[in-house]
Amino acid sequence: MWKDFLKNTIKAGKKLVMSDIRYIKGKEPHPRETRVIFKNVDREGWDPSIDCYMKDGGYEMLKKGLKMTPDEIREEVKTAGLRGRGGAGFPAGVKWGFIPPNNEKPVYLICNADESEPGTFKDRYIIHQDPHQLIEGMVLSCFSVGAHLAYIYIREEFPEGAQILEKAIEEAHANGFLGKNIQGTGFDLEIYVHRGAGAYICGEETGLIESLEGKRPYPRIKPPYFPAAMGLYLCPTIVNNVETLCHVKHIIEVGGQAWAKTGKPNNTGTRILCVSGDVKKPGYYEVQVGHVTMGELINDICGGLKDGRQLKAVIPGGSSAKVLRADETFTVGRGDDAKEISIWDIPMDFDSLAACGSMAGSGGVIVIDDSRSISWVLNNINSFYAHESCGQCTPCREGSLWMKKISDRIVAGKASPEDIDTLESVAYNIDGKTICAFGEACSWPTESFVAKFRDELTADTKEDLSGDIVNQESELAAAGLK
Ligand SMILES: Cc1cc2nc3c(=O)[nH]c(=O)nc-3n(C[C@H](O)[C@H](O)[C@H](O)COP(=O)(O)O)c2cc1C
Ligand code: SF4
Repeated sequence: MWKDFLKNTIKAGKKLVMSDIRYIKGKEPHPRETRVIFKNVDREGWDPSIDCYMKDGGYEMLKKGLKMTPDEIREEVKTAGLRGRGGAGFPAGVKWGFIPPNNEKPVYLICNADESEPGTFKDRYIIHQDPHQLIEGMVLSCFSVGAHLAYIYIREEFPEGAQILEKAIEEAHANGFLGKNIQGTGFDLEIYVHRGAGAYICGEETGLIESLEGKRPYPRIKPPYFPAAMGLYLCPTIVNNVETLCHVKHIIEVGGQAWAKTGKPNNTGTRILCVSGDVKKPGYYEVQVGHVTMGELINDICGGLKDGRQLKAVIPGGSSAKVLRADETFTVGRGDDAKEISIWDIPMDFDSLAACGSMAGSGGVIVIDDSRSISWVLNNINSFYAHESCGQCTPCREGSLWMKKISDRIVAGKASPEDIDTLESVAYNIDGKTICAFGEACSWPTESFVAKFRDELTADTKEDLSGDIVNQESELAAAGLK
C-alpha cells in the first residue's frame, strides 16, 4: 500500500513529507495496549491516503451513520459515555446536547488540534498517520449536531499536519464524503484547516474561537460564553479534541453500549497515554481507560525507570495537573469500597486520578526520578506558564511571572525560605480568580509542588542572602547602573 502511495505521490509531482516516509517502518504495539484510535499508527504498510483508508473499511461508518438520525448518533455517543480527551474529560454527548433547542443560527464544529499541553503528543500522530479517521469522525459529529461548516484548528508548529489534513480534505471531497449532498443524503459540509500562530492559550476553547475570528486569543468568560450556546460568531459551537472526535466513528461501528464495555464505568473506552520523562521507553500507548495502573504503565509498558533510579514523582495529566509524590498514599473509592493505595496502584482513569487529588487531563504522563531537582522541574513549568499567559487578567499575568521569578531565584540559590511561602501565596491568589482555566493550569503545579516538596524546595534556599545582595549591587555597579 505504501509503495502505491509513494509512487502516486511522486507521479503527481507532489513533495514527499517526512510522515510519508515514516509509514514504511511499522512498530508493534505493547501487548497491554488496546489500539482503536491508534490502530493504524505505525502499522506496517499503512499510509495516510484515502485509498489505503478505504481499502481498510474507511468511511463505511459514515455511510452507516448517515442512515441514522442526528439524535440517534448523539444518543449512541451519550450511551457510550465518551469523555473528552482534550483535558477536562467532559462527556461529549452531553456537550452536544447543550446546543439550544429551536436554535436558528448556524452551528459550527471545531476540532481542537492545538495540542499545546506540555507532555501531550498524540493528536499530531493521528493527524500525520490517519487523517481520514479524524475526518470521518468529524463528518459524523457535524451531521449529529447540525453543523455545515467545521474547522480544524491546528497549531502553527504542525505545518506538516496541516499539509496532510489539506490533502485528506481534498481526497474526501473527491470521493463524496465532504461538500454538497454527501453520499446523496442532502447533507452538506465543508471542513477548513485553520493554522494558529503558536500560543498555548489558543488551545483553550474560547481563546481558540477568538483566534479563529481573527482576534487576539483572549479567552471569554463563562458564563455566558459557553461555546455550545455562544461560540464562534456568537453561534452555537461544539469544540472537541482530535482524539474525542475520532472515537465517534468507532462508537457508530459497535454501538454505544458495546463501546461502553471497554474501559470501566464512567471512564469508558480507550485513551492514548503519552509518557515522557525518566522511563526507559517513553512514547504513546493506547490502553483501556482504568485497565492499567500507574505501576503497570511505568514498569511494564514503559520498561521501568532508568537503571539505578527511584521514582520521585509523577505529573499524570499534562504539566498543569497536580504532581503526585512517589511515597504518598491515596484514598480511592467511597464508603465500604474506599481503600488506601500507593502511587503504583492508581488506576489510570479520570475518576481515580481525580480521587488522588490530580487529574487525567490530556493524557500526558510525566515521570520524574530521583536524579531531578524539584526546584528545576517547577521552574521549568513556571517558565512555560509565565511565557504563555495571555495577559488579560492581572492575577494570571502578574502572578505567573512572579512564580517564575521566585522559582528562578530558588534554582539560582538566591531565594530565602520565606520565598516559598510567597510562591505559595501567589499561586493561591491566581487559582479561581481568573477569566479562564489557565489560572488553575499555572497555579496547580506550584500549589502541589510546594505542598508536597516544601522541604526540598526550602533546601535550595538560603537563610542569609546578604552576600547575594552585595553581589547584585556590585553587578549593577559593574553595569554602570548604580
Ligand atoms: C489553557 C488551556 C489550554 C488547553 N489546550 C487544549 C489543547 O491544546 N487541546 C485540546 O483539545 N484541549 C485543550 N484545552 C481544553 C479545551 O478548552 C476544551 O475543553 C477541549 O478542546 C474540549 O474538547 P474535549 O471535550 O473533546 O476534550 C485547553 C484548556 C485550557 C484551559
Ligand atoms: S487566566 Fe491567564 S490566560 Fe486566561 S484569560 Fe486570564 S490572563 Fe489570559
